[in-house]
Amino acid sequence: GEVHYHEFVIQARPVKRLCRTHSTITVNGQFPGPTLAVRDGDSLVITAINRARYNVTLHWHGIRQLRNPWADGPEYVTQCPIQPGGTYTYRFTIQSQEGTLWWHAHSKWLRATVYGALIIFPRWGLHYPFPMPKREFPILLGEWWDGNPMDVLKQALFTGAAPNVSDAYTINGQPGDLYRCSSKGTAVFPVLPGETILLRIINAALNQELFFSVANHQMTVVGVDAAYTRPFATNVIMIGPGQTTNVLITANQAAGRYYMAARAYQTAQNAAFDNTTTTAILQYILASGSSGKGQSSRPILPRLPAYNDTATATAFTSSLRSPWKIKVPTQIDENLFFTVGLGLINCSNPNSPRCQGPNGTRFAASMNNVSFVFPRTNSLMQAYYQGIPGVFTTDFPPVPPIQFDYTGNVSRGLWQPVKATKLYKLKFGSRVQIILQDTSIVSTEDHPIHLHGYSFAVIGAGFGNFNPRNDPAKFNLIDPPVRNTIGTPPGGWVAIRFVADNPGVWLMHCHIDSHLVWGLAMSFLVENGVGELQSVIPPPLDLPRC
Ligand code: C2O
Repeated sequence: GEVHYHEFVIQARPVKRLCRTHSTITVNGQFPGPTLAVRDGDSLVITAINRARYNVTLHWHGIRQLRNPWADGPEYVTQCPIQPGGTYTYRFTIQSQEGTLWWHAHSKWLRATVYGALIIFPRWGLHYPFPMPKREFPILLGEWWDGNPMDVLKQALFTGAAPNVSDAYTINGQPGDLYRCSSKGTAVFPVLPGETILLRIINAALNQELFFSVANHQMTVVGVDAAYTRPFATNVIMIGPGQTTNVLITANQAAGRYYMAARAYQTAQNAAFDNTTTTAILQYILASGSSGKGQSSRPILPRLPAYNDTATATAFTSSLRSPWKIKVPTQIDENLFFTVGLGLINCSNPNSPRCQGPNGTRFAASMNNVSFVFPRTNSLMQAYYQGIPGVFTTDFPPVPPIQFDYTGNVSRGLWQPVKATKLYKLKFGSRVQIILQDTSIVSTEDHPIHLHGYSFAVIGAGFGNFNPRNDPAKFNLIDPPVRNTIGTPPGGWVAIRFVADNPGVWLMHCHIDSHLVWGLAMSFLVENGVGELQSVIPPPLDLPRC
């Protein structure tokens, strides 16, 4: 493959949105950041230069990084952060992956503005499993705060309360026509009548699952998370933070302008959320070079589902299939059951400014009652590789200590998660099944769970408590979709399987960043296999120190 060299300078730049100019952390002055376009088998060498005033790391979301955890990026997991003034070069190769991925900062809330598309084309001579589209566009969905997102986070962490919701959603960094002072920048996607185009939709929003639709144009879904899917037609997609969805649309309508739009899919009850709508324009270009008629009239808006339309979200996600039979492990070595959910920590002084959560508490989120604490002085990967003791323990509890009705009346046992840096050890090559079970301690909620270093088969999902007697009979072990981020349905469960063939320390977490900073995360430690080929590569010499 080819080697692509890039320099990513992380720096503050003035960016004007919603009538105000903000000093915004960008890559190379661009917001959103640069698009990386490569082929399967290519290598990337990206030198990150930190000229911002925050610690930063970069993560290549969905890249498997086989035996190469040092390039994965989550701060304090596979590397210490790049400090202001520092640099680090990420080197990795794409190994048998194609489709749409993306990259983003993996340090506090910097990814609010530090993100971009990572597009992987098939190897030379290979083709998509569908007719070649005439044009392709990355569609990056984001969230914008009329303020510094890092300050929003700081405030939330100090008070223990939920962070302020965003002020706008964005498409390729632009809120679009429906927001104040935003018409001029609205993203426009040109298309010739009759053409079929590929939209590579990426949910880069910090905290919000989204519905997306294009007025008058049906979408044909052909891929998710850099894996192909069996094509199916839909008017609306639901996409969680971290996920990508590839759709084809054909310009078969009257020449003119049509809105594509996104707005919230919000599952947590009684929680504030940004209820605005972002738009971009699909614009027909006539062969003469002039745009279609209707140029000056306002484009039509697509009909989007109600914010709490779980039926539509579920209909979409349960339609996803791999286009062919895939290898799903049928025997299981590790059968794991992980609860995911929000919790509350009681305060001794509920009137304290640090206890502004519900009824004088602080929010904490957990998996199996453990609220993940990131280390400070070492990365987990370094601690493992160099045998540094005291950084983590490997007693992540595989089963919650207290049995209870996860989605009904909840025992107080999970109200007080323990804060700890606990990893779960997996033997190299073991076949793993994980049931992710949402809990209702604060409210039920869809949690988009992302696993680093792996893709997994999504073999089943349902509402209520997972039933180990009846539910496995319904698992799809033939053609389940393959993903790197999967929503745990609100008040429900989802089942995934993968083979632990990538040694290293790999974070698994909720991709809603407010939940991540509250601890909705855990890490796997996949031990080195025997023999040289299976072991982790040595750490690069420029790996940042804490
Ligand atoms: Cu998209 Cu842990 O990240």
